Amino acid sequence: MRDIFEIRRQDAGGRIGELRVPRAGVTVETPTLMPVVNPNLITIEPSTFTEFGAEMLITNSYIIKSDDDLREEALEKGLHEMLGFDGAIMTDSGSFQLAEYGEIDTDTEDIIEFQRDIGSDIGTPVDIPTPPDASRESAEIQLGETEEALALAEGMDVGEMLVNAPVQGSTHVDLREAAAEHAYGTDLDVFPVGAVVPLLNDYRYADMADVVAAAKRGLGSDAPVHLFGAGHPMMFALAAALGCDLFDSAAYAIYARDDRYMTVRGTEHLADIDHFPCSCAVCSEHSPDEVRALADPAREELLAEHNLHVSFAELRRVKHAIKRGRLMELVESRARSHPEMLDGYRAFLDHADQYERSDPASKDTFFYVSGESARRPEVERHHARLPRLDTADEVLLSESGAGSDDFDEIYRVKPPFGPYPTALATTYPVTGEVPDRLDDEAYAAAARGIAALADANPDTDFTLAHYDWPDTALAAVPERVELYDIDADRDDNGGDGDGE
Ligand code: GUN
Ligand code: ZN
Repeated sequence: MRDIFEIRRQDAGGRIGELRVPRAGVTVETPTLMPVVNPNLITIEPSTFTEFGAEMLITNSYIIKSDDDLREEALEKGLHEMLGFDGAIMTDSGSFQLAEYGEIDTDTEDIIEFQRDIGSDIGTPVDIPTPPDASRESAEIQLGETEEALALAEGMDVGEMLVNAPVQGSTHVDLREAAAEHAYGTDLDVFPVGAVVPLLNDYRYADMADVVAAAKRGLGSDAPVHLFGAGHPMMFALAAALGCDLFDSAAYAIYARDDRYMTVRGTEHLADIDHFPCSCAVCSEHSPDEVRALADPAREELLAEHNLHVSFAELRRVKHAIKRGRLMELVESRARSHPEMLDGYRAFLDHADQYERSDPASKDTFFYVSGESARRPEVERHHARLPRLDTADEVLLSESGAGSDDFDEIYRVKPPFGPYPTALATTYPVTGEVPDRLDDEAYAAAARGIAALADANPDTDFTLAHYDWPDTALAAVPERVELYDIDADRDDNGGDGDGE
Protein backbone atom coordinates (compact mmCIF):
# COMPACT_ATOMS: atom_id res chain seq x y z
CA MET A 1 0.00 0.00 0.00
CA ARG A 2 1.27 3.44 -0.93
CA ASP A 3 1.25 6.29 1.49
CA ILE A 4 -1.83 8.02 0.08
CA PHE A 5 -4.31 8.28 2.90
CA GLU A 6 -4.20 10.44 5.97
CA ILE A 7 -6.82 10.51 8.67
CA ARG A 8 -7.61 13.95 10.08
CA ARG A 9 -10.50 13.31 12.43
CA GLN A 10 -12.31 10.31 13.87
CA ASP A 11 -15.67 9.63 15.44
CA ALA A 12 -16.57 6.03 16.24
CA GLY A 13 -15.34 4.25 13.07
CA GLY A 14 -16.02 7.34 10.98
CA ARG A 15 -13.16 9.45 9.78
CA ILE A 16 -12.36 12.59 7.86
CA GLY A 17 -9.47 11.67 5.63
CA GLU A 18 -7.38 12.96 2.79
CA LEU A 19 -6.95 10.63 -0.14
CA ARG A 20 -4.13 11.61 -2.43
CA VAL A 21 -4.82 10.57 -6.02
CA PRO A 22 -1.45 11.13 -7.69
CA ARG A 23 -2.42 10.59 -11.29
CA ALA A 24 -5.21 13.18 -11.06
CA GLY A 25 -2.97 15.52 -9.09
CA VAL A 26 -5.72 16.03 -6.50
CA THR A 27 -6.34 15.27 -2.86
CA VAL A 28 -9.90 14.26 -2.11
CA GLU A 29 -11.49 14.79 1.29
CA THR A 30 -13.24 11.66 2.53
CA PRO A 31 -15.91 10.51 3.12
CA THR A 32 -16.54 11.20 -0.54
CA LEU A 33 -19.34 10.28 -2.89
CA MET A 34 -18.61 9.34 -6.47
CA PRO A 35 -21.50 9.74 -8.90
CA VAL A 36 -21.57 6.76 -11.25
CA VAL A 37 -21.36 7.64 -14.92
CA ASN A 38 -22.78 5.17 -17.36
CA PRO A 39 -21.15 6.41 -20.59
CA ASN A 40 -24.09 5.05 -22.59
CA LEU A 41 -26.73 6.74 -20.48
CA ILE A 42 -25.69 10.14 -19.25
CA THR A 43 -28.40 11.80 -17.13
CA ILE A 44 -26.34 14.64 -15.67
CA GLU A 45 -23.32 15.99 -17.50
CA PRO A 46 -20.20 14.98 -15.54
CA SER A 47 -18.78 18.46 -16.15
CA THR A 48 -21.40 19.76 -13.68
CA PHE A 49 -20.67 17.24 -10.91
CA THR A 50 -18.33 19.61 -9.10
CA GLU A 51 -21.29 21.99 -8.66
CA PHE A 52 -22.96 19.30 -6.55
CA GLY A 53 -19.81 18.81 -4.50
CA ALA A 54 -18.28 15.80 -6.25
CA GLU A 55 -14.51 15.52 -6.20
CA MET A 56 -14.37 12.15 -7.85
CA LEU A 57 -16.56 10.06 -10.14
CA ILE A 58 -16.63 6.42 -11.08
CA THR A 59 -17.31 4.92 -14.47
CA ASN A 60 -17.09 1.47 -15.95
CA SER A 61 -14.08 0.70 -18.12
CA TYR A 62 -15.65 -2.54 -19.32
CA ILE A 63 -18.66 -0.72 -20.77
CA ILE A 64 -16.30 1.71 -22.49
CA LYS A 65 -14.06 -1.03 -23.81
CA SER A 66 -17.00 -3.05 -25.12
CA ASP A 67 -18.26 -0.21 -27.34
CA ASP A 68 -16.18 0.59 -30.41
CA ASP A 69 -16.88 4.33 -30.43
CA LEU A 70 -16.43 4.82 -26.72
CA ARG A 71 -13.26 2.72 -26.70
CA GLU A 72 -11.66 4.69 -29.50
CA GLU A 73 -12.70 8.02 -28.02
CA ALA A 74 -11.40 7.09 -24.56
CA LEU A 75 -8.07 5.85 -25.93
CA GLU A 76 -7.69 8.93 -28.09
CA LYS A 77 -8.79 11.70 -25.73
CA GLY A 78 -8.44 10.07 -22.36
CA LEU A 79 -11.27 9.61 -19.89
CA HIS A 80 -11.09 13.07 -18.37
CA GLU A 81 -11.55 14.87 -21.64
CA MET A 82 -14.10 12.40 -22.89
CA LEU A 83 -16.30 12.93 -19.83
CA GLY A 84 -15.42 16.58 -19.36
CA PHE A 85 -14.39 16.04 -15.75
CA ASP A 86 -11.04 17.11 -14.35
CA GLY A 87 -11.42 15.68 -10.83
CA ALA A 88 -10.34 12.14 -9.98
CA ILE A 89 -11.84 9.25 -11.93
CA MET A 90 -12.16 5.72 -10.65
CA THR A 91 -12.97 2.93 -13.06
CA ASP A 92 -14.60 -0.41 -12.44
CA SER A 93 -13.59 -3.53 -14.31
CA GLY A 94 -16.67 -5.42 -15.42
CA SER A 95 -16.87 -7.56 -12.28
CA PHE A 96 -20.39 -6.39 -11.69
CA GLN A 97 -21.35 -7.44 -15.23
CA LEU A 98 -19.63 -10.75 -14.52
CA ALA A 99 -21.81 -11.20 -11.45
CA GLU A 100 -24.95 -10.21 -13.39
CA TYR A 101 -24.43 -12.11 -16.65
CA GLY A 102 -22.05 -14.92 -15.66
CA GLU A 103 -19.30 -14.02 -18.10
CA ILE A 104 -17.35 -11.10 -19.48
CA ASP A 105 -15.04 -10.65 -22.37
CA THR A 106 -11.94 -9.48 -20.51
CA ASP A 107 -9.60 -10.40 -17.67
CA THR A 108 -7.62 -8.57 -15.03
CA GLU A 109 -4.49 -7.96 -17.10
CA ASP A 110 -6.43 -6.83 -20.16
CA ILE A 111 -8.78 -4.50 -18.30
CA ILE A 112 -6.17 -2.99 -15.97
CA GLU A 113 -4.03 -2.19 -18.97
CA PHE A 114 -7.02 -0.56 -20.66
CA GLN A 115 -7.84 1.45 -17.54
CA ARG A 116 -4.27 2.66 -17.41
CA ASP A 117 -4.31 3.54 -21.11
CA ILE A 118 -7.48 5.63 -20.92
CA GLY A 119 -6.10 7.63 -18.01
CA SER A 120 -8.03 6.20 -15.08
CA ASP A 121 -6.83 7.48 -11.71
CA ILE A 122 -7.94 4.42 -9.75
CA GLY A 123 -8.35 1.11 -11.56
CA THR A 124 -9.98 -2.17 -10.56
CA PRO A 125 -9.04 -5.79 -11.26
CA VAL A 126 -11.64 -8.42 -12.10
CA ASP A 127 -12.69 -9.49 -8.63
CA ILE A 128 -15.47 -12.05 -8.18
CA PRO A 129 -18.47 -10.54 -6.38
CA THR A 130 -19.75 -13.60 -4.51
CA PRO A 131 -23.40 -12.96 -3.64
CA PRO A 132 -24.73 -13.06 -0.05
CA ASP A 133 -25.53 -16.45 1.45
CA ALA A 134 -23.29 -18.33 -1.01
CA SER A 135 -22.03 -21.64 0.32
CA ARG A 136 -18.79 -21.42 2.19
CA GLU A 137 -17.15 -23.62 -0.40
CA SER A 138 -18.05 -21.44 -3.37
CA ALA A 139 -17.22 -18.28 -1.43
CA GLU A 140 -13.77 -19.73 -0.72
CA ILE A 141 -13.18 -20.81 -4.31
CA GLN A 142 -14.21 -17.41 -5.66
CA LEU A 143 -12.13 -15.64 -3.04
CA GLY A 144 -9.16 -17.59 -4.37
CA GLU A 145 -9.92 -16.20 -7.84
CA THR A 146 -10.18 -12.67 -6.47
CA GLU A 147 -6.85 -13.09 -4.72
CA GLU A 148 -5.29 -14.24 -8.01
CA ALA A 149 -6.71 -11.15 -9.69
CA LEU A 150 -5.11 -8.95 -7.02
CA ALA A 151 -1.80 -10.70 -7.50
CA LEU A 152 -1.96 -10.12 -11.26
CA ALA A 153 -2.78 -6.45 -10.77
CA GLU A 154 0.02 -6.11 -8.26
CA GLY A 155 2.54 -7.37 -10.78
CA MET A 156 1.59 -4.87 -13.48
CA ASP A 157 3.17 -1.59 -14.43
CA VAL A 158 0.35 0.85 -13.87
CA GLY A 159 2.35 4.03 -13.48
CA GLU A 160 0.74 6.46 -11.06
CA MET A 161 -2.69 4.84 -11.29
CA LEU A 162 -3.94 3.62 -7.93
CA VAL A 163 -5.51 0.17 -7.88
CA ASN A 164 -8.48 -1.15 -5.93
CA ALA A 165 -8.13 -4.36 -3.95
CA PRO A 166 -11.75 -5.52 -3.49
CA VAL A 167 -12.63 -7.51 -0.39
CA GLN A 168 -15.07 -10.35 -1.05
CA GLY A 169 -16.22 -13.37 0.98
CA SER A 170 -20.01 -13.21 0.76
CA THR A 171 -21.73 -13.16 4.15
CA HIS A 172 -19.05 -15.35 5.76
CA VAL A 173 -17.53 -12.84 8.14
CA ASP A 174 -14.37 -14.85 8.83
CA LEU A 175 -13.74 -15.04 5.07
CA ARG A 176 -14.30 -11.29 4.78
CA GLU A 177 -11.79 -10.67 7.53
CA ALA A 178 -9.23 -13.02 5.96
CA ALA A 179 -9.83 -11.49 2.51
CA ALA A 180 -9.28 -8.03 3.97
CA GLU A 181 -6.05 -9.11 5.63
CA HIS A 182 -4.85 -10.54 2.35
CA ALA A 183 -5.82 -7.44 0.38
CA TYR A 184 -4.11 -5.19 2.92
CA GLY A 185 -0.99 -7.30 2.53
CA THR A 186 -0.75 -6.51 -1.20
CA ASP A 187 0.73 -3.26 -2.42
CA LEU A 188 -2.62 -2.18 -3.83
CA ASP A 189 -4.18 1.04 -2.65
CA VAL A 190 -7.91 1.31 -2.03
CA PHE A 191 -10.07 -1.35 -0.42
CA PRO A 192 -13.65 -1.67 -1.65
CA VAL A 193 -15.95 -3.97 0.28
CA GLY A 194 -17.61 -5.79 -2.60
CA ALA A 195 -20.88 -7.52 -3.40
CA VAL A 196 -22.92 -5.57 -0.88
CA VAL A 197 -25.39 -4.30 -3.50
CA PRO A 198 -27.68 -7.36 -3.12
CA LEU A 199 -27.65 -6.81 0.66
CA LEU A 200 -28.52 -3.14 0.30
CA ASN A 201 -31.23 -3.83 -2.29
CA ASP A 202 -32.87 -6.16 0.22
CA TYR A 203 -32.47 -3.68 3.10
CA ARG A 204 -30.15 -6.14 4.87
CA TYR A 205 -28.31 -3.37 6.72
CA ALA A 206 -27.46 -5.61 9.67
CA ASP A 207 -25.66 -8.06 7.39
CA MET A 208 -23.98 -5.13 5.65
CA ALA A 209 -22.77 -3.88 9.03
CA ASP A 210 -21.40 -7.30 9.99
CA VAL A 211 -19.63 -7.65 6.65
CA VAL A 212 -18.05 -4.19 6.82
CA ALA A 213 -17.02 -4.63 10.46
CA ALA A 214 -15.35 -7.93 9.52
CA ALA A 215 -13.50 -6.35 6.60
CA LYS A 216 -12.35 -3.52 8.86
CA ARG A 217 -10.88 -6.01 11.32
CA GLY A 218 -8.65 -7.33 8.56
CA LEU A 219 -7.56 -3.93 7.27
CA GLY A 220 -5.16 -1.49 8.86
CA SER A 221 -6.72 1.75 10.04
CA ASP A 222 -4.79 3.60 7.33
CA ALA A 223 -6.63 1.74 4.56
CA PRO A 224 -9.13 3.82 2.56
CA VAL A 225 -12.33 1.78 2.36
CA HIS A 226 -14.96 2.02 -0.36
CA LEU A 227 -18.45 0.56 0.04
CA PHE A 228 -18.99 -0.60 -3.52
CA GLY A 229 -22.43 0.27 -4.88
CA ALA A 230 -23.73 2.05 -1.79
CA GLY A 231 -25.55 5.11 -3.04
CA HIS A 232 -28.56 5.69 -0.83
CA PRO A 233 -28.04 8.69 1.45
CA MET A 234 -30.13 7.02 4.18
CA MET A 235 -27.22 4.72 4.98
CA PHE A 236 -24.22 7.05 4.59
CA ALA A 237 -24.05 7.87 8.29
CA LEU A 238 -24.13 4.22 9.33
CA ALA A 239 -21.63 3.19 6.66
CA ALA A 240 -19.32 6.05 7.65
CA ALA A 241 -19.57 5.04 11.31
CA LEU A 242 -18.55 1.53 10.25
CA GLY A 243 -15.43 3.02 8.70
CA CYS A 244 -16.27 3.47 5.00
CA ASP A 245 -14.57 6.40 3.29
CA LEU A 246 -15.83 6.20 -0.28
CA PHE A 247 -19.33 5.75 -1.67
CA ASP A 248 -20.65 5.60 -5.19
CA SER A 249 -24.12 6.39 -6.37
CA ALA A 250 -25.74 5.03 -9.48
CA ALA A 251 -29.02 5.31 -7.60
CA TYR A 252 -29.35 9.06 -8.20
CA ALA A 253 -29.87 8.37 -11.91
CA ILE A 254 -31.49 4.94 -11.78
CA TYR A 255 -34.11 6.13 -9.30
CA ALA A 256 -34.82 9.25 -11.34
CA ARG A 257 -35.61 7.09 -14.34
CA ASP A 258 -38.47 5.52 -12.33
CA ASP A 259 -39.71 8.85 -10.87
CA ARG A 260 -38.22 7.98 -7.49
CA TYR A 261 -37.33 10.85 -5.21
CA MET A 262 -34.64 10.20 -2.60
CA THR A 263 -34.72 11.50 0.95
CA VAL A 264 -32.46 10.73 3.87
CA ARG A 265 -35.35 8.80 5.39
CA GLY A 266 -36.06 6.62 2.37
CA THR A 267 -37.39 6.90 -1.16
CA GLU A 268 -40.71 8.37 -2.28
CA HIS A 269 -42.52 8.17 -5.57
CA LEU A 270 -43.01 11.50 -7.33
CA ALA A 271 -46.72 10.69 -7.71
CA ASP A 272 -47.12 10.67 -3.92
CA ILE A 273 -45.52 14.04 -3.18
CA ASP A 274 -47.56 17.20 -2.65
CA HIS A 275 -44.73 19.18 -1.06
CA PHE A 276 -41.04 18.67 -1.68
CA PRO A 277 -39.38 18.13 1.72
CA CYS A 278 -36.10 19.57 0.47
CA SER A 279 -34.54 22.94 -0.15
CA CYS A 280 -32.22 22.12 -3.04
CA ALA A 281 -32.37 24.24 -6.17
CA VAL A 282 -34.77 21.83 -7.91
CA CYS A 283 -37.18 21.62 -4.99
CA SER A 284 -37.15 25.34 -4.22
CA GLU A 285 -37.79 26.34 -7.80
CA HIS A 286 -40.37 23.73 -8.80
CA SER A 287 -43.52 22.32 -7.31
CA PRO A 288 -44.17 18.56 -7.56
CA ASP A 289 -46.99 19.32 -10.02
CA GLU A 290 -44.60 21.23 -12.25
CA VAL A 291 -42.10 18.39 -12.24
CA ARG A 292 -44.82 15.83 -12.92
CA ALA A 293 -45.99 17.87 -15.90
CA LEU A 294 -42.56 17.75 -17.53
CA ALA A 295 -41.77 15.22 -20.21
CA ASP A 296 -38.61 13.12 -20.17
CA PRO A 297 -35.73 13.77 -20.23
CA ALA A 298 -36.43 17.05 -18.38
CA ARG A 299 -38.33 15.36 -15.55
CA GLU A 300 -35.70 12.66 -15.16
CA GLU A 301 -32.94 15.25 -15.14
CA LEU A 302 -34.56 17.33 -12.43
CA LEU A 303 -35.16 14.27 -10.27
CA ALA A 304 -31.58 13.10 -10.80
CA GLU A 305 -30.37 16.56 -9.80
CA HIS A 306 -32.45 16.50 -6.65
CA ASN A 307 -31.27 12.97 -5.86
CA LEU A 308 -27.67 14.04 -6.24
CA HIS A 309 -28.20 17.19 -4.15
CA VAL A 310 -29.81 15.26 -1.32
CA SER A 311 -26.99 12.70 -1.44
CA PHE A 312 -24.24 15.31 -1.22
CA ALA A 313 -26.13 17.20 1.48
CA GLU A 314 -26.17 14.06 3.60
CA LEU A 315 -22.50 13.47 2.90
CA ARG A 316 -21.74 16.99 4.17
CA ARG A 317 -23.92 16.31 7.21
CA VAL A 318 -21.87 13.17 7.89
CA LYS A 319 -18.61 15.10 7.60
CA HIS A 320 -19.89 17.86 9.84
CA ALA A 321 -21.05 15.28 12.39
CA ILE A 322 -17.64 13.57 12.39
CA LYS A 323 -15.90 16.89 12.95
CA ARG A 324 -18.26 17.80 15.77
CA GLY A 325 -18.13 14.36 17.39
CA ARG A 326 -21.83 13.89 16.67
CA LEU A 327 -21.77 11.00 14.20
CA MET A 328 -23.49 8.56 16.54
CA GLU A 329 -26.39 10.95 17.07
CA LEU A 330 -26.79 11.25 13.29
CA VAL A 331 -26.67 7.47 12.87
CA GLU A 332 -29.30 7.11 15.59
CA SER A 333 -31.63 9.54 13.93
CA ARG A 334 -31.22 7.79 10.56
CA ALA A 335 -31.80 4.46 12.31
CA ARG A 336 -35.27 5.78 13.17
CA SER A 337 -36.25 6.12 9.54
CA HIS A 338 -36.55 2.46 8.70
CA PRO A 339 -36.80 -0.74 10.79
CA GLU A 340 -33.97 -2.32 8.82
CA MET A 341 -31.80 0.73 9.43
CA LEU A 342 -32.40 0.17 13.13
CA ASP A 343 -31.24 -3.41 12.67
CA GLY A 344 -28.15 -2.07 10.94
CA TYR A 345 -27.42 0.30 13.80
CA ARG A 346 -27.98 -2.45 16.36
CA ALA A 347 -25.58 -4.68 14.43
CA PHE A 348 -23.04 -1.83 14.53
CA LEU A 349 -23.54 -1.64 18.31
CA ASP A 350 -22.79 -5.36 18.54
CA HIS A 351 -19.31 -4.29 17.42
CA ALA A 352 -19.09 -1.37 19.87
CA ASP A 353 -15.90 -2.77 21.44
CA GLN A 354 -14.24 -2.89 18.01
CA TYR A 355 -15.24 0.70 17.24
CA GLU A 356 -14.42 1.95 20.72
CA ARG A 357 -10.75 1.67 19.79
CA SER A 358 -10.91 4.36 17.12
CA ASP A 359 -13.31 6.62 19.00
CA PRO A 360 -11.73 9.79 20.40
CA ALA A 361 -11.32 9.86 24.18
CA SER A 362 -13.14 13.16 24.37
CA LYS A 363 -15.72 14.86 22.18
CA ASP A 364 -18.55 17.31 22.42
CA THR A 365 -21.30 16.38 24.90
CA PHE A 366 -22.74 12.88 24.57
CA PHE A 367 -26.49 13.07 23.84
CA TYR A 368 -28.63 10.16 24.94
CA VAL A 369 -31.39 10.04 22.33
CA SER A 370 -32.68 6.46 22.36
CA GLY A 371 -32.28 3.12 24.10
CA GLU A 372 -29.54 2.35 21.58
CA SER A 373 -27.45 5.19 23.00
CA ALA A 374 -26.88 2.94 26.02
CA ARG A 375 -24.75 0.64 23.85
CA ARG A 376 -22.62 3.27 22.15
CA PRO A 377 -18.84 2.75 22.01
CA GLU A 378 -18.35 5.52 24.60
CA VAL A 379 -20.45 3.64 27.16
CA GLU A 380 -18.62 0.46 26.28
CA ARG A 381 -15.27 2.16 26.89
CA HIS A 382 -16.38 3.63 30.19
CA HIS A 383 -17.37 0.14 31.31
CA ALA A 384 -14.11 -1.34 30.06
CA ARG A 385 -12.16 1.16 32.18
CA LEU A 386 -14.08 0.70 35.43
CA PRO A 387 -12.20 -2.48 36.43
CA ARG A 388 -8.99 -0.43 36.55
CA LEU A 389 -10.29 1.52 39.55
CA ASP A 390 -9.23 0.45 43.03
CA THR A 391 -12.04 1.09 45.47
CA ALA A 392 -11.92 1.60 49.28
CA ASP A 393 -13.51 -0.79 51.81
CA GLU A 394 -16.98 0.76 51.95
CA VAL A 395 -18.24 2.49 48.83
CA LEU A 396 -21.50 4.28 48.17
CA LEU A 397 -22.64 4.36 44.55
CA SER A 398 -24.93 7.35 44.61
CA GLU A 399 -27.32 8.39 41.87
CA SER A 400 -28.27 11.59 43.71
CA GLY A 401 -24.66 12.47 44.39
CA ALA A 402 -25.47 12.87 48.07
CA GLY A 403 -22.83 11.45 50.38
CA SER A 404 -22.81 9.87 53.80
CA ASP A 405 -20.20 9.56 56.52
CA ASP A 406 -20.91 5.85 56.71
CA PHE A 407 -18.75 5.27 53.65
CA ASP A 408 -15.05 5.60 52.83
CA GLU A 409 -15.70 6.71 49.28
CA ILE A 410 -18.57 8.02 47.13
CA TYR A 411 -18.96 7.25 43.44
CA ARG A 412 -21.57 9.05 41.38
CA VAL A 413 -23.89 6.86 39.33
CA LYS A 414 -25.45 8.06 36.11
CA PRO A 415 -27.34 5.86 33.65
CA PRO A 416 -26.30 4.69 31.09
CA PHE A 417 -22.66 5.07 32.18
CA GLY A 418 -22.95 3.61 35.66
CA PRO A 419 -20.50 4.55 38.40
CA TYR A 420 -17.66 7.06 38.12
CA PRO A 421 -15.34 8.70 40.64
CA THR A 422 -16.48 12.22 41.51
CA ALA A 423 -13.15 13.51 40.21
CA LEU A 424 -14.27 12.49 36.71
CA ALA A 425 -17.62 14.28 36.94
CA THR A 426 -16.62 16.96 34.45
CA THR A 427 -15.06 14.60 31.91
CA TYR A 428 -16.35 12.93 28.76
CA PRO A 429 -18.56 10.94 28.45
CA VAL A 430 -20.23 11.20 31.88
CA THR A 431 -20.99 14.87 31.23
CA GLY A 432 -23.46 13.49 28.68
CA GLU A 433 -26.96 14.87 28.53
CA VAL A 434 -29.65 12.32 29.24
CA PRO A 435 -33.42 12.76 29.31
CA ASP A 436 -35.24 12.78 32.67
CA ARG A 437 -37.48 9.97 31.47
CA LEU A 438 -34.98 7.22 30.78
CA ASP A 439 -35.67 3.85 29.27
CA ASP A 440 -34.78 0.49 30.78
CA GLU A 441 -31.74 0.17 28.51
CA ALA A 442 -30.05 3.09 30.27
CA TYR A 443 -30.50 1.50 33.68
CA ALA A 444 -29.42 -1.89 32.38
CA ALA A 445 -26.23 -0.34 31.00
CA ALA A 446 -25.58 1.41 34.33
CA ALA A 447 -26.03 -1.95 36.07
CA ARG A 448 -23.43 -3.48 33.73
CA GLY A 449 -21.07 -0.70 34.75
CA ILE A 450 -21.67 -1.43 38.42
CA ALA A 451 -21.01 -5.11 37.82
CA ALA A 452 -17.72 -4.26 36.06
CA LEU A 453 -16.57 -2.15 39.02
CA ALA A 454 -17.79 -4.58 41.67
CA ASP A 455 -16.34 -7.68 40.01
CA ALA A 456 -12.91 -6.05 39.87
CA ASN A 457 -13.08 -5.10 43.56
CA PRO A 458 -14.32 -8.20 45.37
CA ASP A 459 -13.22 -6.96 48.80
CA THR A 460 -15.24 -3.75 48.70
CA ASP A 461 -18.69 -3.49 50.27
CA PHE A 462 -20.84 -1.58 47.78
CA THR A 463 -24.15 0.13 48.35
CA LEU A 464 -26.18 1.47 45.44
CA ALA A 465 -28.48 4.41 46.23
CA HIS A 466 -30.77 4.70 43.23
CA TYR A 467 -33.98 6.43 42.16
CA ASP A 468 -36.43 3.58 41.72
CA TRP A 469 -34.54 1.62 39.08
CA PRO A 470 -36.54 -0.97 37.15
CA ASP A 471 -36.35 -4.53 38.47
CA THR A 472 -34.66 -5.74 35.31
CA ALA A 473 -31.73 -3.41 35.94
CA LEU A 474 -31.54 -4.17 39.66
CA ALA A 475 -31.45 -7.87 38.82
CA ALA A 476 -28.29 -7.23 36.81
CA VAL A 477 -26.55 -5.54 39.74
CA PRO A 478 -24.35 -8.12 41.51
CA GLU A 479 -26.10 -9.61 44.51
CA ARG A 480 -23.48 -8.46 46.99
CA VAL A 481 -24.23 -4.81 46.21
CA GLU A 482 -26.66 -3.52 48.81
CA LEU A 483 -29.61 -1.67 47.32
CA TYR A 484 -31.20 1.48 48.63
CA ASP A 485 -34.10 3.15 46.84
CA ILE A 486 -33.87 6.90 47.36
CA ASP A 487 -37.41 7.43 46.08
CA ALA A 488 -38.88 4.97 48.60
CA ASP A 489 -37.09 6.82 51.35
CA ARG A 490 -38.35 10.16 50.04
CA ASP A 491 -41.92 8.86 49.88
CA ASP A 492 -41.64 7.64 53.50
CA ASN A 493 -40.57 11.13 54.53
CA GLY A 494 -43.48 12.83 52.84
CA GLY A 495 -41.68 13.39 49.54
CA ASP A 496 -39.87 16.51 50.73
CA GLY A 497 -36.32 15.40 50.50
CA ASP A 498 -33.92 14.02 47.99
CA GLY A 499 -32.63 11.23 50.15
CA GLU A 500 -29.99 13.20 52.00
N1 GUN B 1 -19.81 -2.83 -8.03
C1 GUN B 1 -20.66 -3.20 -7.04
N2 GUN B 1 -20.17 -4.24 -6.35
C2 GUN B 1 -18.98 -4.55 -6.89
C3 GUN B 1 -17.99 -5.54 -6.60
O1 GUN B 1 -18.13 -6.35 -5.67
N3 GUN B 1 -16.87 -5.54 -7.38
C4 GUN B 1 -16.69 -4.64 -8.40
N4 GUN B 1 -15.57 -4.69 -9.10
N5 GUN B 1 -17.61 -3.72 -8.70
C5 GUN B 1 -18.73 -3.67 -7.95
ZN1 ZN C 1 -34.43 18.65 -3.62
